Amino acid sequence: MKFFVDTAETKDIRDLLATGLLDGVTTNPSLIAKSGRDFVEVIAEICALTNTPVSAEVSATDTDEMIAEGEHLAGIAHNVVVKLPLTLDGLRACAHFKRNQIRTNVTLCFSPNQALLAAKAGATYVSPFIGRLDDINLEGSNLIGDIRTIYDNYGFETQILAASIRTANHVTQAALAGADVATIPPDVIRKLVQHPLTSNGLAQFLKDWEGTGQSIL
Ligand code: G3P
Repeated sequence: MKFFVDTAETKDIRDLLATGLLDGVTTNPSLIAKSGRDFVEVIAEICALTNTPVSAEVSATDTDEMIAEGEHLAGIAHNVVVKLPLTLDGLRACAHFKRNQIRTNVTLCFSPNQALLAAKAGATYVSPFIGRLDDINLEGSNLIGDIRTIYDNYGFETQILAASIRTANHVTQAALAGADVATIPPDVIRKLVQHPLTSNGLAQFLKDWEGTGQSIL
Protein backbone atom coordinates (compact mmCIF):
# COMPACT_ATOMS: atom_id res chain seq x y z
CA MET A 1 0.00 0.00 0.00
CA LYS A 2 1.32 3.43 -0.91
CA PHE A 3 1.53 6.13 1.79
CA PHE A 4 0.57 9.69 0.93
CA VAL A 5 0.82 12.40 3.58
CA ASP A 6 -2.36 14.42 4.05
CA THR A 7 -1.17 17.95 4.80
CA ALA A 8 -0.14 21.30 3.31
CA GLU A 9 2.51 21.87 6.01
CA THR A 10 5.80 21.78 4.11
CA LYS A 11 7.83 21.24 7.30
CA ASP A 12 5.99 17.96 7.96
CA ILE A 13 6.33 16.97 4.29
CA ARG A 14 10.09 17.57 4.31
CA ASP A 15 10.47 15.67 7.59
CA LEU A 16 8.53 12.65 6.36
CA LEU A 17 10.07 12.62 2.87
CA ALA A 18 13.41 12.08 4.63
CA THR A 19 12.09 8.75 6.00
CA GLY A 20 11.72 7.37 2.47
CA LEU A 21 8.22 6.19 3.37
CA LEU A 22 6.20 8.75 1.36
CA ASP A 23 4.70 8.02 -2.07
CA GLY A 24 2.74 11.26 -2.47
CA VAL A 25 0.94 14.21 -0.89
CA THR A 26 -2.72 15.20 -0.72
CA THR A 27 -4.14 18.59 0.14
CA ASN A 28 -7.69 19.96 0.24
CA PRO A 29 -9.18 23.43 0.74
CA SER A 30 -9.42 22.95 4.54
CA LEU A 31 -5.74 21.94 4.78
CA ILE A 32 -4.72 24.89 2.60
CA ALA A 33 -6.77 27.24 4.81
CA LYS A 34 -5.12 25.74 7.89
CA SER A 35 -1.67 26.40 6.41
CA GLY A 36 -2.51 30.10 6.09
CA ARG A 37 -0.55 30.25 2.83
CA ASP A 38 -1.19 31.18 -0.80
CA PHE A 39 -2.61 28.07 -2.51
CA VAL A 40 -0.62 28.15 -5.75
CA GLU A 41 2.58 29.08 -3.90
CA VAL A 42 2.35 26.22 -1.39
CA ILE A 43 1.45 23.65 -4.09
CA ALA A 44 4.46 24.81 -6.14
CA GLU A 45 6.68 24.49 -3.06
CA ILE A 46 5.41 20.98 -2.28
CA CYS A 47 5.88 19.91 -5.91
CA ALA A 48 9.48 21.15 -5.74
CA LEU A 49 10.09 18.95 -2.69
CA THR A 50 9.04 15.70 -4.37
CA ASN A 51 8.42 14.11 -7.77
CA THR A 52 5.60 12.03 -6.32
CA PRO A 53 1.90 12.86 -6.97
CA VAL A 54 0.61 16.00 -5.21
CA SER A 55 -3.18 16.46 -5.08
CA ALA A 56 -4.49 20.03 -5.41
CA GLU A 57 -8.26 20.57 -5.25
CA VAL A 58 -10.36 22.87 -7.40
CA SER A 59 -12.75 25.29 -5.70
CA ALA A 60 -15.26 25.59 -8.56
CA THR A 61 -18.47 23.56 -8.62
CA ASP A 62 -19.42 23.66 -12.32
CA THR A 63 -17.64 21.63 -14.97
CA ASP A 64 -16.24 24.43 -17.13
CA GLU A 65 -14.76 26.32 -14.18
CA MET A 66 -13.41 23.07 -12.68
CA ILE A 67 -11.66 22.40 -15.98
CA ALA A 68 -10.22 25.93 -16.11
CA GLU A 69 -8.99 25.74 -12.50
CA GLY A 70 -7.70 22.19 -12.92
CA GLU A 71 -5.72 23.08 -16.04
CA HIS A 72 -4.20 26.01 -14.14
CA LEU A 73 -3.26 23.73 -11.23
CA ALA A 74 -1.86 21.06 -13.55
CA GLY A 75 0.33 23.78 -15.09
CA ILE A 76 2.07 24.39 -11.76
CA ALA A 77 4.12 21.17 -11.95
CA HIS A 78 4.16 17.79 -13.74
CA ASN A 79 3.28 15.96 -10.55
CA VAL A 80 0.08 17.89 -9.72
CA VAL A 81 -2.98 15.63 -9.51
CA VAL A 82 -6.23 17.59 -9.95
CA LYS A 83 -8.63 16.90 -7.10
CA LEU A 84 -12.34 17.07 -7.95
CA PRO A 85 -15.45 16.62 -5.78
CA LEU A 86 -17.61 13.57 -6.52
CA THR A 87 -20.49 15.39 -8.20
CA LEU A 88 -21.86 15.11 -11.75
CA ASP A 89 -19.95 18.27 -12.66
CA GLY A 90 -16.84 16.84 -11.05
CA LEU A 91 -17.24 13.57 -12.97
CA ARG A 92 -17.65 15.46 -16.26
CA ALA A 93 -14.47 17.40 -15.49
CA CYS A 94 -12.76 14.12 -14.57
CA ALA A 95 -13.63 12.63 -17.97
CA HIS A 96 -12.18 15.75 -19.64
CA PHE A 97 -8.88 15.39 -17.76
CA LYS A 98 -8.79 11.65 -18.54
CA ARG A 99 -9.06 12.48 -22.26
CA ASN A 100 -6.23 14.97 -21.80
CA GLN A 101 -3.92 12.70 -19.80
CA ILE A 102 -4.15 14.82 -16.64
CA ARG A 103 -4.28 12.76 -13.47
CA THR A 104 -7.26 13.20 -11.15
CA ASN A 105 -8.24 12.42 -7.59
CA VAL A 106 -12.04 12.28 -7.19
CA THR A 107 -12.74 13.08 -3.56
CA LEU A 108 -15.54 13.10 -0.97
CA CYS A 109 -16.54 9.54 -1.87
CA PHE A 110 -18.93 7.89 0.61
CA SER A 111 -20.59 5.02 -1.28
CA PRO A 112 -19.72 2.13 -3.60
CA ASN A 113 -21.93 3.62 -6.33
CA GLN A 114 -20.02 6.90 -6.15
CA ALA A 115 -16.74 5.00 -6.48
CA LEU A 116 -18.15 3.08 -9.46
CA LEU A 117 -18.99 6.39 -11.15
CA ALA A 118 -15.50 7.75 -10.46
CA ALA A 119 -13.92 4.70 -12.10
CA LYS A 120 -16.25 4.98 -15.11
CA ALA A 121 -15.25 8.67 -15.43
CA GLY A 122 -11.61 7.59 -15.61
CA ALA A 123 -10.39 8.88 -12.25
CA THR A 124 -6.74 8.12 -11.47
CA TYR A 125 -7.61 7.98 -7.75
CA VAL A 126 -10.88 7.87 -5.80
CA SER A 127 -10.85 9.08 -2.18
CA PRO A 128 -13.33 7.30 0.10
CA PHE A 129 -13.44 9.05 3.49
CA ILE A 130 -13.12 6.45 6.27
CA GLY A 131 -13.17 8.76 9.30
CA ARG A 132 -16.25 10.74 8.32
CA LEU A 133 -18.24 7.51 7.87
CA ASP A 134 -17.06 6.33 11.30
CA ASP A 135 -18.17 9.72 12.65
CA ILE A 136 -21.79 8.79 11.79
CA ASN A 137 -21.53 5.25 13.17
CA LEU A 138 -20.91 3.55 9.82
CA GLU A 139 -17.92 1.28 9.21
CA GLY A 140 -15.67 3.27 6.86
CA SER A 141 -13.38 0.31 6.15
CA ASN A 142 -16.33 -1.66 4.74
CA LEU A 143 -16.56 0.91 1.96
CA ILE A 144 -12.93 0.28 1.03
CA GLY A 145 -13.61 -3.45 0.79
CA ASP A 146 -16.74 -2.95 -1.31
CA ILE A 147 -14.89 -0.66 -3.73
CA ARG A 148 -12.01 -3.17 -3.95
CA THR A 149 -14.45 -5.93 -4.89
CA ILE A 150 -16.23 -3.80 -7.49
CA TYR A 151 -12.99 -2.54 -9.08
CA ASP A 152 -11.51 -6.05 -9.21
CA ASN A 153 -14.76 -7.45 -10.67
CA TYR A 154 -14.41 -5.20 -13.72
CA GLY A 155 -10.67 -4.51 -13.88
CA PHE A 156 -11.00 -0.79 -13.20
CA GLU A 157 -7.58 0.87 -12.96
CA THR A 158 -8.72 3.68 -10.65
CA GLN A 159 -6.66 3.50 -7.45
CA ILE A 160 -8.47 3.41 -4.10
CA LEU A 161 -6.97 6.23 -1.99
CA ALA A 162 -8.25 5.74 1.58
CA ALA A 163 -8.71 9.20 3.13
CA SER A 164 -10.08 10.87 6.24
CA ILE A 165 -7.70 8.64 8.21
CA ARG A 166 -7.60 9.63 11.86
CA THR A 167 -5.89 6.66 13.59
CA ALA A 168 -3.28 3.94 13.12
CA ASN A 169 -6.15 1.45 13.12
CA HIS A 170 -7.60 3.17 10.07
CA VAL A 171 -4.33 2.47 8.26
CA THR A 172 -4.52 -1.21 9.22
CA GLN A 173 -8.16 -1.40 8.15
CA ALA A 174 -7.40 0.26 4.81
CA ALA A 175 -4.52 -2.14 4.14
CA LEU A 176 -6.58 -5.21 5.10
CA ALA A 177 -9.43 -4.02 2.86
CA GLY A 178 -7.07 -3.66 -0.12
CA ALA A 179 -6.68 0.10 -0.58
CA ASP A 180 -3.98 1.02 -3.10
CA VAL A 181 -3.06 4.15 -1.15
CA ALA A 182 -3.72 5.61 2.28
CA THR A 183 -3.38 9.36 2.75
CA ILE A 184 -2.40 9.87 6.35
CA PRO A 185 -1.97 12.94 8.59
CA PRO A 186 1.68 13.46 9.66
CA ASP A 187 1.08 12.68 13.33
CA VAL A 188 -0.64 9.39 12.46
CA ILE A 189 2.26 8.37 10.21
CA ARG A 190 4.65 8.95 13.10
CA LYS A 191 2.50 6.77 15.38
CA LEU A 192 2.58 3.79 13.01
CA VAL A 193 6.09 2.81 14.04
CA GLN A 194 5.40 2.96 17.79
CA HIS A 195 4.80 -0.09 19.99
CA PRO A 196 5.57 -0.30 23.73
CA LEU A 197 6.97 -3.83 23.43
CA THR A 198 9.42 -2.61 20.78
CA SER A 199 10.58 0.25 23.03
CA ASN A 200 10.84 -1.99 26.06
CA GLY A 201 12.59 -4.76 24.14
CA LEU A 202 15.16 -2.36 22.70
CA ALA A 203 15.84 -0.86 26.12
CA GLN A 204 16.47 -4.32 27.52
CA PHE A 205 18.76 -5.27 24.58
CA LEU A 206 20.80 -2.10 25.10
CA LYS A 207 21.00 -2.65 28.87
CA ASP A 208 22.18 -6.24 28.43
CA TRP A 209 24.64 -5.21 25.69
CA GLU A 210 26.06 -2.47 27.89
CA GLY A 211 26.67 -5.15 30.52
CA THR A 212 28.96 -7.04 28.15
CA GLY A 213 31.38 -4.12 28.09
CA GLN A 214 31.91 -4.77 24.38
CA SER A 215 31.67 -2.44 21.37
CA ILE A 216 31.12 -3.39 17.75
CA LEU A 217 33.42 -0.74 16.22
O1 G3P B 1 -7.98 13.90 2.42
C1 G3P B 1 -9.20 14.12 3.07
C2 G3P B 1 -8.96 14.37 4.52
O2 G3P B 1 -8.07 15.46 4.69
C3 G3P B 1 -10.24 14.62 5.28
O3 G3P B 1 -9.98 14.27 6.60
O4 G3P B 1 -10.34 14.24 9.06
O5 G3P B 1 -11.25 16.15 7.63
O6 G3P B 1 -12.28 13.86 7.50
P1 G3P B 1 -11.00 14.66 7.76
